[in-house]
Amino acid sequence: MDDKRIVSLKIKDLRKDFIDSLSELYEPEEVLSFFYILSEKFLGLRRVDVALALETVISSQELSKFENAKNHLKKQDPIQYITGDTEFYGLSFKVNQNVLIPRPETEELVDWIIKDYQRKEGGRKIKVLDIGTGSGCIAISLAKNLPEIDMYAIDVSKEALEVAKENAKHNKVAVTFMCADILQLDALKNSFDIIISNPPYVRELEKQEIHANVLENEPHLALFVSDQDPLIFYRKITRLAKKSLLADGLLYFEINQYLGTETKEMIKKLGFNSVSLRKDLYNNDRMIKASII
Ligand SMILES: C[S@@+](CC[C@H](N)C(=O)[O-])C[C@H]1O[C@@H](n2cnc3c(N)ncnc32)[C@H](O)[C@@H]1O
Repeated sequence: MDDKRIVSLKIKDLRKDFIDSLSELYEPEEVLSFFYILSEKFLGLRRVDVALALETVISSQELSKFENAKNHLKKQDPIQYITGDTEFYGLSFKVNQNVLIPRPETEELVDWIIKDYQRKEGGRKIKVLDIGTGSGCIAISLAKNLPEIDMYAIDVSKEALEVAKENAKHNKVAVTFMCADILQLDALKNSFDIIISNPPYVRELEKQEIHANVLENEPHLALFVSDQDPLIFYRKITRLAKKSLLADGLLYFEINQYLGTETKEMIKKLGFNSVSLRKDLYNNDRMIKASII
């Protein structure tokens, strides 16, 4: 875009330029949705405000932010990494390339836990652990919605934990974060009422189903497991949970949709008597709840 256009560019021209430049790569509705997300971020204008401000001329600083975002979108970088944030369960989360972008399926898991939740008699604080916390989306939305719980979260990635800590601060909740490789632990340090995990579960053989922009941008440490042992995290976490969950405790997992039955059977074999499998909005096996009694 040359300098003359930069000086007098109106929002309506910018929107048209966005559509023209990105329409080969994305559906028109998607381009518009990116444009409105960026307008809110860079101009403080919601979608309805944009409609009323089409003749407004934007500054060269604002334009350069849009140009930069457009270049990232041309490379198919995820919009959440471009803006640096996303929404999960009605809360705002910072994200960068050290953390997985929280998914809607995971919101369904959080919703299940919140709806199941029961206070302990006698006012004892319930201890909850999130394993593989990433951006902290599960731990933080539980802590926000269930203020009477004691929330703990583990991740092996120090960089992810930095993001999760910022997110806890931003959302004004207390979470105890710990850096640990779950596969190397023989036991957890505390007893817990609830243990949750959305661990890595995509098999190498499923890579071809994954969008290029996920493969190229999101941390592989958060996503992939070997074809030979895809349940490695589930087996380890179930064993740790068997030792550390209180008698009436609950274990929740987000799971690989193709491995629902295998995951359920494995959890039963390791000593959990009641194991229920739940589908997500897209009708895929996606979540498990297990209890020992
Ligand atoms: C699928 S992501 C889930 C992130 C977040 N909980 C969510 O639901 O969006 C899995 C997370 O497990 C972490 N992780 C991978 N290997 C781990 C290990 N051995 N021990 C602990 N955490 C691990 C990754 O860093 C990543 O943050």
